[in-house]
This record gives sequence, structure tokens and C-alpha cells, in this order.
Amino acid sequence: MDSILVTGNGPLSGQIPIAGAKNACLTLMPATLLSDEPLTLTNAPRLSDIRTMTALLGSLGAEVSTLQDGKVLAMSSHDLTSHTADYDIVRKMRASILVLGPMLARDGQAVVSLPGGCAIGARPVDLHLRALEALGAQMELKDGYVHARAPGGLKGGRIDFPFVSVGATENALMAATLAKGTTVIGNAAREPEIVDLAACLVKMGAQIDGAGTGTITVQGVERLHGATHPVVTDRIELGTYMLAPAICGGEVELLGGRKALVGAFCDKLDEAGIEVTETERGLSVKRREDHVKAVNVTTEPFPGFPTDLQAQMMALLCTADGVSVLEETIFENRFMHAPELMRMGARIDVHGGHATVTGVAQLKGAPVMATDLRASVSLILAGLAAAGDTLVSRVYHLDRGYEHVVGKLRGVGARIERIHAT
Ligand code: EPZ
Repeated sequence: MDSILVTGNGPLSGQIPIAGAKNACLTLMPATLLSDEPLTLTNAPRLSDIRTMTALLGSLGAEVSTLQDGKVLAMSSHDLTSHTADYDIVRKMRASILVLGPMLARDGQAVVSLPGGCAIGARPVDLHLRALEALGAQMELKDGYVHARAPGGLKGGRIDFPFVSVGATENALMAATLAKGTTVIGNAAREPEIVDLAACLVKMGAQIDGAGTGTITVQGVERLHGATHPVVTDRIELGTYMLAPAICGGEVELLGGRKALVGAFCDKLDEAGIEVTETERGLSVKRREDHVKAVNVTTEPFPGFPTDLQAQMMALLCTADGVSVLEETIFENRFMHAPELMRMGARIDVHGGHATVTGVAQLKGAPVMATDLRASVSLILAGLAAAGDTLVSRVYHLDRGYEHVVGKLRGVGARIERIHAT
């Protein structure tokens, strides 16, 4: 297993290009199952999760050609040869559940392994199943698999989520595009990735209103045609790299960044004394003063502070003046980066869904272990500001969501290298 060695090297400066959004691409790719015409995605990120989704779609009989060094995904699912998403692929990536709604909508049948839990929580899929049942699907759980059927096709219906679920909203939205009649999705997720998915589906001929609000209305159509669609910029990669100059000093321009993608996050950075300026090519970020101020953070569904930036923000607050409280309201176990940051001298008290961080003047480099995707990059950020060397192991977590992290950070003056396992 590879590791990444980071050595604190003072202020950063330069540009970092932001890629297409992993979490948009992972729902746009299954949308190819909704049509027998080609769907092409541009601005796709080069990530291991995308390769896993490619393998999953291939196992169903879809064709996915990766062009232009992986930035273009030319997909077509003219004839599905299987309707079963196997456990060995699904367990590696929970987003695999997003083939359920499209397969059901297109062919009236789907067998998808339950994804199982992951490091950050139990991650059940009950809301996905309930939503599809509201569209007339029959669900049966057997041997760890969901056996879904809709013999006469899906019918439009009313779905009211008890709480916001990004994935369940995406599954319901995709399924509803081919359901007979009208579907209304209440308490829908409002993330930019939902808006991007809806924009792509509309290009394919779907009739969707309200994407980006809490209520989405879909008028089912007979069939969807092909399309070409650019994947929206990755707001989580954007937010992650905005924290690099915040924690190290200096000034970095994030190419392709837009404040609209990270509104609540920018508000928090402003409160902490970080200046974010819109430029012609993206966002420029620098500290107003030598140290950041302690702030309190509560994660919420969009447009609130993203849970996927909580670990990275904690790394910044470990070096802030004062005491910060981070409240994680989305996942039940998303503070596993805290013990690793404490190995670097951070002062963090975790109690249930709250982490109290007392800022220290200087973190110290140490060997640390990545536990999940976003935790791994928070350790990289801490290492950029720490005195000495930080060796982050198990960086396969990082490869799931960040392309060329070493190259992008080196490009702004960081001392960082990947150490390949022998
Ligand atoms: C998506 O996961 C993202 N993944 C996650 O990003 C992100 O953290 C999450 O949304 C929240 O923004 C992708 O888009 C591929 P949810 P998802 O359904 O859809 C519970 C990353 O780092 N829940 O909005 O799985 C669930 O356990 C990843 O890129 C149910 O109880 O998240 C969680 O507590 C991590 N039953 C809460 O809802 C369900 O049926 C929100 O989950 C579904 C979810």
C-alpha cells in the first residue's frame, strides 16, 4: 500500500485546477442505463471510484469508453446482458446502489447487493427502497441482495423523505423520469450534484422541475435519448484545496472554483479570517492575518456546511487561535481523523457527534493512517502546516476522490511525494 510523505514547507502560492465532481459523476454514469442511446460525459475526474463504476456498468452489459486520458466517458447501454450488481463490486463502492433506480425504470427488474456499511457509518439504503416502492416497485431482500421488480413498469407517485438523502433523491429522480405519470419528491436533497443530474436528464428528454429545491416534480416520458454533458466542478475538492493556503499561509487560485458551490463553507472561512475572492478563472484564497480564528461548525445538507469538508476544516481549526466545536449531524462515525490529528499534537475531545478542538501553535509531523476518503486528505492538509515530516499510510482511500493530489499540491510549492509500496 502506497504512502504519502508531506513536509511542512511554509506559505503556498500558485494555481490548482479543480476537476469534475466525483459525486456528480457517480450518479451521471448510471443514467446511461435509462436510454439505449449513447450518453457522453466530459470533464470527468480520473479516480478509482469512477473506474469501479465503469466496471459495474460493464458487468451489466453497458459499454464505457474512457477517452482523452479519462476526462471523457463515452457510454452506451444498448442491450443489458445482466440486471445483477454483484456484492464484490458494490461492497467496494456504496454509490453502486445508484444503478437500482435506472435499471428498474428501464427494464422493470434489478438485483443489487446491499452495499453494507463503511468506515463512517452503517449507511443503510432503506430510503432508496421506500422511494422506489412509492413508484410501484416490489422489493424483496434475499441473501444480502435487493430483488426489485416493476413488471408493468413504474408509475408516478408521491415520495416524502423523512430526512434528506442525496443518493435516495438521485435514485428516485432517475427512476421517475420513465415512470408513467407525475412524481413529486418532497424533502429532496438540494446538492449541486442533484442539479447537475437533473440538467443531464433534461438534455436526455426528461421533464423535471424544481431540482435544487426541496421539492422536485417529474413528468414521466416514454423514453430518453442520448446526450453529451459536462460534469459539474467538484465542490468538495474545491473546498479541500481552499484550505491549503488557509492552513499554510500564502495565496492560491483554485481554477474553475465558484462561490455558489461552496457558499456556507466560504462564510465559515470568512468568519475564521480567510479571504475568498472571485477571479476570472476561479477563486483566490489567502489568510487575512497570520493565524486563523476558532469557529464553530455544524454539518448540514446543502446549502449548509458540507459533511464532506468537516474533516478538512478540523485540520485547519487544530491550528486556530481558540476553541472550536464541530458538530457532525449527517454520519454517526465521521471523526476517525481526530485520533490521527492528535498524533500530530492536535488537542481534540470527541463526544458523540461533537468534537471540541483547542488550537495549538504548531502541529508536529508524525506517521498517521488514513481511515476514509476525506479523513485522508485532512491529514495531508495538517502535514502541510506541521513542523517536520508526516507520513500518511493507506492512501488508496485518497485515490478514490482526489486525482493527482501530489502534483496539484507540488504545483503550489508543497513538499510532498508519493512513496510506492515495494
Ligand atoms: C452522498 O452519500 C455522498 N456520496 C457522500 O460523499 C456525502 O457525504 C453524502 O451524500 C452526504 O452529503 C456520493 O454522492 C457518492 P445520504 P449518500 O443518503 O447518498 C442516512 C464522499 O466523501 N441514510 O445523503 O450515501 C445515511 O446513513 C462521500 O464523497 C439512511 O438512513 O448520503 C446518512 O446518515 C461520503 N437511509 C444520511 O442519511 C438511506 O436510505 C445522509 O446520507 C440513505 C441514507
